[in-house]
Amino acid sequence: MKTKSYGLLEGKKGIIFGPLDERSLGWQIALAAYREGAKFTISNMKAAIRVGQIEELSKQCGDAPLIACDASSSEDIASVFAETKERFGALDFIVHSIGMSPNVRKKRDYTDLHYDWYHKTLDVSAMSLHRIVSGALHADALNDGASIVALTYIGAQRVFSKYSDMADAKALLENITRNYGARLGARGIRINTITQSPTKTTAGSGVEGFDHLYDFAEKTSPLGNATAEDCADLVAVLLSDLTRRITMQNIYNDGGFSSMGISDALLEEFYGNKG
Ligand SMILES: NC(=O)c1ccc[n+]([C@@H]2O[C@H](COP(=O)([O-])OP(=O)(O)OC[C@H]3O[C@@H](n4cnc5c(N)ncnc54)[C@H](O)[C@@H]3O)[C@@H](O)[C@H]2O)c1
Repeated sequence: MKTKSYGLLEGKKGIIFGPLDERSLGWQIALAAYREGAKFTISNMKAAIRVGQIEELSKQCGDAPLIACDASSSEDIASVFAETKERFGALDFIVHSIGMSPNVRKKRDYTDLHYDWYHKTLDVSAMSLHRIVSGALHADALNDGASIVALTYIGAQRVFSKYSDMADAKALLENITRNYGARLGARGIRINTITQSPTKTTAGSGVEGFDHLYDFAEKTSPLGNATAEDCADLVAVLLSDLTRRITMQNIYNDGGFSSMGISDALLEEFYGNKG
């Protein structure tokens, strides 16, 4: 389904961290933000910009500037906000769509984590949000009433056996969101996370058994799995003024998965018609 523009982000300026290719949640978020009238810069690691298709995304978003940044580097983040501020002035939104776990990639079980990698997972996938918000505040690059959104997974609340150390990173990410929300509210600045259904992206597909996880969620969720486009539309709403008093929340974009126990489709799958 192609969403029409509601002009939700007319006049708003921001930065979107994490689009890699067409499948990325960040990519679809950029397209939705552009459709809704926003202007923004797009950021990713230098290597991802070099090998990826991000220039194509920039073209589709009115030649959005691309800025290289390793989100685990405070220096990189400082220069991203300096450059963005120079181009656009202070910002109305930030999107954090960054995640990476070497332990997940290498299929290390939670009981057998490589600790340097564990550190990397927490640094890139969670502390990066702290660094980004801190970098924006130090550069005085956020307008009052700005909105910040980061993406998370239900593995932060419930155990999904193959999600390994990413579950811990997402729990930290969600807590950073609450801690900043409490401190930024006086300026009307909101910060929220979205729990997204399993989605076939590069990061998502790196989780062992992803196809089974995807299928299980699809069969459990009354509305079916939320797509990357569904996620992007919700992000656009959260970046808009329509949600000006929503902060410190984790919002489930999961087709109802988080409220389900067992569904008929799964019973059928496990036990056939014998029930
Ligand atoms: N795909 C899913 O099933 C799913 C579900 C829930 C939440 N999420 C979350 O959505 C977000 C986006 O992931 P995606 O699924 O679109 O996958 P993706 O692989 O398309 O995006 C992840 C991005 O993180 C970037 N990144 C990795 N290390 C970085 C670093 N050091 N500095 C800057 N950027 C870095 C990658 O280059 C990539 O662009 C992640 O936080 C992910 O955990 C994904």
